[in-house]
Amino acid sequence: MPIKKESNYDLRAHNTFGIDVNAELFITYDTVDELVEVLAAVRGNGKRILHIGAGSNLLFTSDFEGIILHSGIKFIEHLSRNEQQVIVRAGAGVVWDDFCALMAQNKHYGSENLSHIPGEVGAAAVQNIGAYGVEVESIIKQVETIEIATGKPRVFQAQQCHYGYRDSIFKNKLKGQYVVTAVVFSLSTVPKVHLDYGQLQELRALDAMPSAQAIRDAVIAIRKSKLPEPSELGSAGSFFKNPVVPVNVYDEIAATYANVPHYVIDGERVKIPAAWLIEQCGFKGKTHGGAAVYEKQPLIIVNQGHATPTDIMELAEAVKQSVYNKFKINIQPEVNYI
Ligand code: EPU
Repeated sequence: MPIKKESNYDLRAHNTFGIDVNAELFITYDTVDELVEVLAAVRGNGKRILHIGAGSNLLFTSDFEGIILHSGIKFIEHLSRNEQQVIVRAGAGVVWDDFCALMAQNKHYGSENLSHIPGEVGAAAVQNIGAYGVEVESIIKQVETIEIATGKPRVFQAQQCHYGYRDSIFKNKLKGQYVVTAVVFSLSTVPKVHLDYGQLQELRALDAMPSAQAIRDAVIAIRKSKLPEPSELGSAGSFFKNPVVPVNVYDEIAATYANVPHYVIDGERVKIPAAWLIEQCGFKGKTHGGAAVYEKQPLIIVNQGHATPTDIMELAEAVKQSVYNKFKINIQPEVNYI
């Protein structure tokens, strides 16, 4: 398909919150050459440029004045294989879960815990998606990009991506400067499983070495029981990141709440689930206009069908303020405000 340009484009299908906003211009391309051509055409025209994946981690706060780019680069190819690992390259526009499904089917281990996360391959590498004890950085070998300012290709080795918790160089130092076109993954051909997360431990009890497919099936079942399906109830997954706090802040909370859930990061830092903090503040199920704090997982803000960006932002702000007032912890949105 050639480059597709659409003016005054309805973004409802391109943001999982389902916010009813338009983009001045929406451009889809299918190859790296087409992307380079598009960038050459729009560069220097003064318009704001935003590249999106499936829009599963953003909140449009109003109509988008500018150009939105979306990748249609969709391929999955096996580059090499030895007794231990397989190297697989995937286009940035591949639906993330299609990649996970194929890997599990081929008995390649590494992406199964990340099954059913909404979004596309390129955004997964930018956002360092994570779930059930695994972050995508653990299987990323290289990220192929095009520099927006020059149209030149640049390959980032995994260690050059500065991966952190829901973080990468593409969200920080190089934000808005590169478009991911493909990602090279290294997966294990021998069983290598991560079953430490609560409900996945049950799987280990049933089978000492479950298959990638069995883990994928279990992860999908857990996600379906806890998280809203974007097709049924709009959301952007976790709205906030889980805060990492100094040990003394945790100790102070634990003095009042003996059972505060937590993960020790190192001798100085502890991660506390934001879902727990939000629940303690009484926000579970609370609504504001058309927005609500999801009753099964209060880390998620949902669009009940008619939420405006303001409803969502005001509810998020009230949650943030309340957590700060009660615990003196500043929780930060994981969702990008556009
Ligand atoms: N909790 C509560 N009340 C609740 C739900 C949870 O207190 O109603 C507490 C519990 O103590 C629970 C803890 O929060 O043990 C953690 O909850 P959960 O396992 O559901 O995970 P999370 O920390 O809230 C993170 C990710 C999710 C990911 C899950 C599973 C972030 C921001 N979120 O959530 O990712 O699926 O772990 O690994 O790190 C996303 O990024 O969009 C996302 C959904």
